Amino acid sequence: MTRHILFVCLGNICRSPAAEAVLRAKAARAGLMVEVDSAGTGDWHVGEPPHPPMIAAATARGYRLEALRARQLSVSDFARFDMILTMDNANQRKASALRAQAGMGPLPKLFLSYAPDCGLTEVPDPWYTGDFDQTLDLLEAATDGLIAALLSTDQR
Ligand code: 4NP
Repeated sequence: MTRHILFVCLGNICRSPAAEAVLRAKAARAGLMVEVDSAGTGDWHVGEPPHPPMIAAATARGYRLEALRARQLSVSDFARFDMILTMDNANQRKASALRAQAGMGPLPKLFLSYAPDCGLTEVPDPWYTGDFDQTLDLLEAATDGLIAALLSTDQR
């Protein structure tokens, strides 16, 4: 069974495209079938590639982001995806409001709920912190937790 998973942040040029690339790579290694995408709740960067320092930090860890292009989250995403995973409480609120408008689809969930030991519930926005390695550390930890959860539901 292929899962359709969407990551959501604010601009779709830092956290969620990086999460998309990390999950794509780790799921392939784990033999898990996923279709992954990402979107932003804001529209300022629609059509742009990810932020260059995010591309650089991800490339240093073997994740390719340069072909991705930003898009905005829409009501139709709630019909296309099985899981919608948000980066912080503000994205979570906006995605939940769109879910209410859609009247169907998955309830958005904070991605770091899959990394309960990381000490944070939100992925800090590297657009403001400048700490792109912290972003990747958190995304890798949550991706490992997500993959473990998906593999355990496969076995039931
Ligand atoms: P992201 O980071 O939500 O992780 O993509 C941001 C990128 C751009 C802006 C905010 C956050 N911005 O305000 O343009």
